[in-house]
Amino acid sequence: MRLDKLLSNLKYGSRKDIKMLCKKGFVQLNGKIVKDAGIDVTLNDEILLDEKKVYFYENLYLVMNKPQGYVSSNIDEGKYPSLLRLIKEPYNRYDLNICGRLDVDTEGLVLLTTDGNLLHQVITPKKDIYKKYYVKLKNILKNYEILENGVEILDGMNNPYTTKQAFIEKIDDYSCYIMISEGKFHQVKRMFLAIDNEVVYLKRVAIGNLELPSNLELGTYQLLTLEEVQNKLFSK
Ligand code: URA
Repeated sequence: MRLDKLLSNLKYGSRKDIKMLCKKGFVQLNGKIVKDAGIDVTLNDEILLDEKKVYFYENLYLVMNKPQGYVSSNIDEGKYPSLLRLIKEPYNRYDLNICGRLDVDTEGLVLLTTDGNLLHQVITPKKDIYKKYYVKLKNILKNYEILENGVEILDGMNNPYTTKQAFIEKIDDYSCYIMISEGKFHQVKRMFLAIDNEVVYLKRVAIGNLELPSNLELGTYQLLTLEEVQNKLFSK
């Protein structure tokens, strides 16, 4: 890719700005000042802009531990900031997609990527990827076999929807894990409401075999490779 295109894609300025920065000697390529902004660069090249390293990736894969109070949308909504605001340099220079939303009061694993192909594979219902949630409940957990076999809830358009097979692992009287392969609006909360219970705390702990790393603090994220993501998401 051309140097000026790469740097402007990474939001360092317009292509005209980059040309100017090169002319003024602010850009180095593999240790040498480069005046020609149209030169081709590859992932193996080292680029410095004003003495600072430019990080560039073909695609980015990040796993985040989402805190409460952030929306899973690319823009802020009302009083809630987008979780993308938690992303810092150099990753905030990329147009990241959120692979599967969490409610504003839900914590846990969010996968972020620039890779449209992977995004599609994660969110398409065809792939049947199970998401695992840790759930704390208001009332004693009972009758949960009903949820495992499918229960009628309202979907995001308030149409009746029968959920697909789910799996519950009881932890104690007031908490459990639930595994579901869909992601309807407020699905887990609505499923428990359907059995006269109420979710008081919800955290996504895994998507497929991709688990929330235990050392990942709330509001932070880790870089993954495509191989790691693919092996964990699509292995049965
Ligand atoms: N189900 C919910 O109810 N909320 C979430 O954030 C995710 C799944």
